[in-house]
Amino acid sequence: MRHKYLPSFVKRRGRITSSQEGNLDHLASYEINKYSQIIQAKQDFSRVVLEIGFGNGENTLALSRENPESLYIASEVYLAGIGALLGEIISNEINNILITSGDIRLLIDDVKKPIFDDVIVICPDPWPKLKHHKRRMLTNEFFKLIHPTIKDGGELFMSTDVKDYAESIEDQISLSEGFSRTDKSRYETSALTKFQRRALHEGRKIYPFSLIKS
Ligand SMILES: C[S@@+](CC[C@H](N)C(=O)[O-])C[C@H]1O[C@@H](n2cnc3c(N)ncnc32)[C@H](O)[C@@H]1O
Repeated sequence: MRHKYLPSFVKRRGRITSSQEGNLDHLASYEINKYSQIIQAKQDFSRVVLEIGFGNGENTLALSRENPESLYIASEVYLAGIGALLGEIISNEINNILITSGDIRLLIDDVKKPIFDDVIVICPDPWPKLKHHKRRMLTNEFFKLIHPTIKDGGELFMSTDVKDYAESIEDQISLSEGFSRTDKSRYETSALTKFQRRALHEGRKIYPFSLIKS
């Protein structure tokens, strides 16, 4: 099958537990996959934030608790992670997280209008081999795609724990248009994710990037 975008993820079931698998049966009640559904869902909230590649959802969960007035659209393709976040949503009766389960770039393509107050991408897949660098998500092509979906003054927050990817993100930012750089992010100090914790534990640095849509 031909993909519109070269996959930026490894679509894997991973080690999925039976409870995560059971939670996936409820996905349809919390899933959002179209612009029109976001419009409908955001009515009860003052802000809408997209987190791309939430992994196990630690950051999304923490933000949703701190900011009950914000709606979090949580994007992931990794089924064990989706099952884990669904379990938290259901057991804690969280009403401000919705999940989108496909390649996020297909939803972004459907949106095209400024609807997100902020967009967060924490530790996207680094694709370390040179021949796979073309699969990296954080490129100028991605900045062009996401730009129209962010409100003026909204933040695109990104981070990586891989030095080589950080250098590439710097290069791609320098090619981008319609964003300005800031060192005052709303997200740099939010809850650590699995990949961030692992990097810090192994003595590696996390490289944050924050762009404001202008
Ligand atoms: C390296 S993991 C990091 C997960 C989490 N943010 C963390 O820091 O622990 C990157 C995640 O992004 C997801 N991902 C990659 N490309 C994606 C895409 N196009 N749409 C949605 N999720 C994607 C992957 O499935 C993977 O779980």
